[in-house]
Amino acid sequence: MGPEDLRRVLGALPSVPRSRRLLVSPESWDDAGVYRVGPKLAVAQTVDFITPVVDDPADYGAIAASNALSDIYAMGGKPTLALSIVCFPSETGDLEILRRIVRGGAAKLKEAGVTLLGGHSVRDPEIKFGYAVTGEIDPKKIVTNAGAKKGDLLVLTKPLGTGILATALKRGLLPDAPLRAMTAQMKALNRAAAAAMKASSAHAATDVTGFGLLGHALNIARASRAALRFFSAAVPLLPQTIELVGRGVASAGLQANAAAVEPHVAWGEGVAEPTRQALVDPQTSGGLLIALPASRVNGLLGRLRRAGVRGAVVGEVTAKKKQYLEVVA
Ligand code: CO
Ligand code: CO
Repeated sequence: MGPEDLRRVLGALPSVPRSRRLLVSPESWDDAGVYRVGPKLAVAQTVDFITPVVDDPADYGAIAASNALSDIYAMGGKPTLALSIVCFPSETGDLEILRRIVRGGAAKLKEAGVTLLGGHSVRDPEIKFGYAVTGEIDPKKIVTNAGAKKGDLLVLTKPLGTGILATALKRGLLPDAPLRAMTAQMKALNRAAAAAMKASSAHAATDVTGFGLLGHALNIARASRAALRFFSAAVPLLPQTIELVGRGVASAGLQANAAAVEPHVAWGEGVAEPTRQALVDPQTSGGLLIALPASRVNGLLGRLRRAGVRGAVVGEVTAKKKQYLEVVA
């Protein structure tokens, strides 16, 4: 769902008794909820399932797994347990396809050291796949949307553009090389990025998923009572992202995201329309957006590089002005 619709629906929830053990609650729009189990242990929980973004079933399964685990990594947690969610057309669907989806997901869970406990399947004309994930987290080391401070720099750990490229793929407009780049990136776990983030004592972080870079940045800005300024030329994009947007390839989700952030963004002179669209493109299994003091950025970039992750400084945290977000050329 788009961020606007989601706010409208969740705003109507009756207030329920709140456990004092709840360390991160839905109000902050964080990546996962966190519940304290004991003095040194909390659990983080999240759920995410998606429609196919690539044609290869095993790749799709792996991407769905990586995408679902990402919210735990973004909080600084270690994913440990998962339950699968499967929607599949049982009468018309080829079960061999489902077998490959599930195996692709299981291989990714294995890579992440996550145990599959079970799951649930539903007959559905449209395929959907993903997981509910539980992770362990040190209650003193939770990385939330709140905590970004004026003067912090913003580091992004994966290029943007998966929504635009996946839409191009569905329209038969995506060449092989960008398809391979997109697939590899979406399959990649945010585990190494999260480890580097934790070693660098980040102030705040989120993963960039359905609301796009600016939508998730808005959550950080609100929770941190700060503003985020992005240097648009420094934001890494997947190959062909700008060309495809220029040809009118944009999902409905992109349009919804653009409308949702528009009142909160001050656009600088010279930020071209295709770039504006890329910055709100809904991402699947996107990278982490990390806020940390400038003095620790080189350490983070080095740790990312050694782990094979390409991190880029894409912006900075400033004092809140009229708008939460600013984008300069
Ligand atoms: Co998230
Ligand atoms: Co999520």
